[in-house]
Amino acid sequence: MNIQHGIGTAHGKIILIGEHAVVYGAPALALPLQDLTIRVEITPDKDFTTLHSKYFNGKLHEAPSDLDNLKAILHHFMNDHPEFSKPLCITIDNTLPSERGMGSSAAVATALVRALFDYFALPLSEEELDEYVDIAEKIAHGNPSGVDALIVKNDMPFLFKKNTYAKKITLHMPGYLVIADTGQVGQTRGAVAGVAEYRKENIQKFEKEFEEILALIEHTLSAINEKDLEALGMAMNETQDILRNWTVSNEKLDELTSAALKAGAIGAKLTGSGRGGCMIALASNFEKAEEIAHTLEQSGAVSTWIHSLNR
Ligand code: MEV
Repeated sequence: MNIQHGIGTAHGKIILIGEHAVVYGAPALALPLQDLTIRVEITPDKDFTTLHSKYFNGKLHEAPSDLDNLKAILHHFMNDHPEFSKPLCITIDNTLPSERGMGSSAAVATALVRALFDYFALPLSEEELDEYVDIAEKIAHGNPSGVDALIVKNDMPFLFKKNTYAKKITLHMPGYLVIADTGQVGQTRGAVAGVAEYRKENIQKFEKEFEEILALIEHTLSAINEKDLEALGMAMNETQDILRNWTVSNEKLDELTSAALKAGAIGAKLTGSGRGGCMIALASNFEKAEEIAHTLEQSGAVSTWIHSLNR
């Protein structure tokens, strides 16, 4: 007898430019990381809905509050479809590290919603998927722009402006991004709240820096059009200076960005929420990217990945 089961997948993301500013209406340019994945499998369970994952193993209702985002998805699903209120066995496998600014919360939410709808053989519209993921992301992040939710379900880079547009972008750039994980848990909720506080206390400075980020995003788009790695690197470095002012860099991220630049990176910045998580460095070719990745690992990065910009 075949056991009923449902599968859902999603992948990670990195933000090339525009993190945090995107919450205040700037566009952000973000890229999918298709090699770093989340896979959710659902099979029937006996008495209770259970979760099997790196985060927690046991009855879902006993899971810690940092999994409230996932509980909320189940709760809303069962409210919308009371006829399917049955115990489920939910298994999450991930190669995408969690809480590293690479979109893991949006990816887990997306994979879970897809697995649920697959399990119950229900059609899932994009709008429905977005609605469920938004519920989970509001719990995980407080005030999400929606950029993570967009990229973790798509295979293309996007230029995204909150509630306004999501435009597919083709990079076709020479060069590589080295992504390095500080090993420190990034605190998206805290980082987003920290920027809000900085903005409140330094409104004029923030407005000026926000305008600078808007200009740097324009420079990035021109650099991509002209395949100009130097101009892209400069925009990354200047963005990092502003993100540092906005209190979302930290000692480790500063250390890794400096180490990358010393090792020959054309530009370097944190990516995603910051305060831990990941940084990215721009390299002119694959050999240089490998050298930079090696230096970053020697400087304390716990993992590195090399990502071609020719996509
Ligand atoms: C997190 O990946 C990106 C932030 O800009 C938050 C958001 O856009 O929701 C920090």
